[in-house]
Amino acid sequence: MSKDWINVAVVGCGRIYADAHRKAYTNSASTNNVVIGLCDLREDLVEEQLKWLKKEYERMLGKAKKKDKGVQVERLKFGLDNLKTYTSFEKMLDAVEGKCDLVDNCTPGRMHIPLSVKAMEHGYNAMAEKPPGLNWWDVKRAVEAEKKTKKCFQVNENVCYEKPVQAMRRVIAEGNLGAVIEIEVHFGHGGPYVPYFFGESGLPHFIDPLWSGGGCLQDLAPHGISRAFWPVGPGTRVVSCNTSVLERRLSPRIMSGKPFDNKLDDWAEATLEAYDPRTKKPFTMKVTTSWCQSFPFPFSIEGEKGIMSIGQDPKKKAYSPVIMADSGDVYFPLDEDNWEPFEGYPREVQIFCDNLLHGNKPSNTSAEYALRLEECLSIQYFSKLMKKKVTMDEMEQWGKGIAAKHSKDQDTIDEIVKALTGAVDQK
Ligand SMILES: NC(=O)c1ccc[n+]([C@@H]2O[C@H](COP(=O)([O-])OP(=O)(O)OC[C@H]3O[C@@H](n4cnc5c(N)ncnc54)[C@H](O)[C@@H]3O)[C@@H](O)[C@H]2O)c1
Repeated sequence: MSKDWINVAVVGCGRIYADAHRKAYTNSASTNNVVIGLCDLREDLVEEQLKWLKKEYERMLGKAKKKDKGVQVERLKFGLDNLKTYTSFEKMLDAVEGKCDLVDNCTPGRMHIPLSVKAMEHGYNAMAEKPPGLNWWDVKRAVEAEKKTKKCFQVNENVCYEKPVQAMRRVIAEGNLGAVIEIEVHFGHGGPYVPYFFGESGLPHFIDPLWSGGGCLQDLAPHGISRAFWPVGPGTRVVSCNTSVLERRLSPRIMSGKPFDNKLDDWAEATLEAYDPRTKKPFTMKVTTSWCQSFPFPFSIEGEKGIMSIGQDPKKKAYSPVIMADSGDVYFPLDEDNWEPFEGYPREVQIFCDNLLHGNKPSNTSAEYALRLEECLSIQYFSKLMKKKVTMDEMEQWGKGIAAKHSKDQDTIDEIVKALTGAVDQK
């Protein structure tokens, strides 16, 4: 592994790469990484991204040379000398052998786990966009790959890397909120845009069950839930769930001005019971997710000592964790660090690269978190399918029954996708 920076190979050069990830690699605080490979099935996209990144790296190199920044000059030159494009992921993995440390997976949901596992089996660390996978059975493969390969996986759930969210985790770990009692999450927007990639069904990947694993629950609940669930701390897990609403309200779904046939959930409401291993206590999590509207208050975390949220500190003007209690509101400071201060996307890359450079430390959103998060999504579908409150144990048993029928993991995962998304009411 390179000593001063992480060499990254990217797969998937579509919308999220162009809107967020490529900016993470050119962010002024991204001094610990450089991209050496870009891969997409579409040659036009990958060539366009090569042109953009080269131009940015040349501009940054010029600036670094003027400031006489030795290592940064070396890093950017290395990037410019090695950066190449590929239209085959397998060919890229072979071509970057001996140089690559980390694969950044920005492909649609169906490929998050398989391509990341392939990268880890090849000897690289891997990170992939949300949702973690198609369902919890899929994401187990990332946990197994971490164990088997000793490589690190990260789910790129960007909200976990926003400074106020990171500070909430610290504030809770320090005991300032006491035991968590109840979390409320409301997260929504008008629905996804038309991406580049369409599944075999002819639908954009966001609304093709076999490519997304589900609708608003798979697309938005990872963000909404992570903002309140991840701060509770490592090892927190869902135990049971009762889903009251799981339905499609809008048909056709209008995406980027075009109508599409859509059978997936665009509204979900559920009450989950979770367990916090730090306090050894259960808590309730009420989650509403929507592709039909947004909500004014994204979340609150009620604890023994008050209600926690993120607010604008009147003294410092910065957004930071606040605990509202009978004795008044208490604002807590953000952590100081060297990374991009405002945006989660560059921070998730910078912090993971920092962990890898310092003794291959696991990610703060490792495969274990990816699985815990995906369990929160799958169990909401499973409760609707079973038409009752269900436990994680029941879902595991159900998954085992399906797995027993198939010799290939992917067939099990696909059967689970079809069954879970088939439970969505068509309004
Ligand atoms: N974190 C966020 O806020 C956020 C926002 C938007 C999208 N996303 C997630 O990012 C992922 C991608 O979404 P998008 O909007 O960029 O989609 P997109 O279709 O615009 O881009 C995906 C790209 O992956 C490429 N691809 C697919 N399979 C491939 C393979 N086997 N090898 C190489 N390239 C392959 C496609 O050709 C396409 O260009 C989705 O899972 C989505 O949920 C996250």
